[in-house]
Amino acid sequence: MASHFHSLRIQELKKETAKTVSIVFEIPTNLVADFLYQAGQYLTLKATINGEEVRRSYSISSYGTEALQVSCKVVDGGKMSTHLVNNIGVDDRIEVMPPMGNFTLRSVDQPLVLFAAGSGITPIFSILKKALNEGTNSIKLLYGNRSEDEVIFKSQLEALRSAHSDRFMVQHFLSDDGERLDSERVQSLVAGISEANYFICGPEGMIAAVKDGLEKSNVAANNINIEYFASPKTEKEATVETVVSGEVNEIIAELDGERHNITLEPGESILDAANRIGIDPPFSCQSGVCTTCKCKVLNGEVEMENNFGLGEDEAEEGFILSCISKPTSAGVVVSWDEA
Ligand code: FES
Repeated sequence: MASHFHSLRIQELKKETAKTVSIVFEIPTNLVADFLYQAGQYLTLKATINGEEVRRSYSISSYGTEALQVSCKVVDGGKMSTHLVNNIGVDDRIEVMPPMGNFTLRSVDQPLVLFAAGSGITPIFSILKKALNEGTNSIKLLYGNRSEDEVIFKSQLEALRSAHSDRFMVQHFLSDDGERLDSERVQSLVAGISEANYFICGPEGMIAAVKDGLEKSNVAANNINIEYFASPKTEKEATVETVVSGEVNEIIAELDGERHNITLEPGESILDAANRIGIDPPFSCQSGVCTTCKCKVLNGEVEMENNFGLGEDEAEEGFILSCISKPTSAGVVVSWDEA
């Protein structure tokens, strides 16, 4: 079945920095199984703000037996982040979709190198705690921020460093002090490390620089794991035109065990069309990043515009991100129930 929102009570709010709050959720007994998660996954939150429905995804920063929490840093003009950091309180309820995402550890038995910048530490923090708790290998965290007072989880990271000083090392990069995780720096930081698994989360520019540094250091692509917070700019914008006539626009979509016939309008994605007819499939970012809208193509051909969220193996298995996908053949059948 496709994922749906559940109303969860906010159990605790933790001020991590002036601009960042961790939101701890109470999970009722009947939803415990739905909200099991892997370190590195995220939750999609939904709220009505000034009369408008807003959805955003936030990475989980808890791990294991810790109460489920996400951490959110307020961004300029960000409707949901401003609402979460400034308006909500303990005992308020918020609509939350069960955990999703592929930014997870395949193995705790490999050395790890973790790159984070700003609130990009959130999924990395969860992954770090899992690897320290369940693995035995060395872990290096390279964490960039503008200034020291913006370092999220500063004291917790220091406590982990002290407790695991034999195998965990953290290095901070403060841009106010002229320290940056640029490509050259990354190459020098990873020189001599072999067979590690690399995780990167942060703003687009930082991700591009770290990725470039790793590629120039000959790190294999399948050892590089990236979590984008927003859709990176690409030169390939909207190159998939919806065919506006004929059978190509007639698709069938499965959701919650029901089949719906949908006719796409010009320029519409499969998700847009499904939302227009009111069948309410899961979604959040609507830009091919978060993977919340993932569904499976059961028949026909579909093309995605700019996929940043889906792994190659998932694409090969027929999964697509419906928010950036359009049919390119007749007879397309997609299913959110098989995602
Ligand atoms: S809604 Fe986020 S990838 Fe489609």
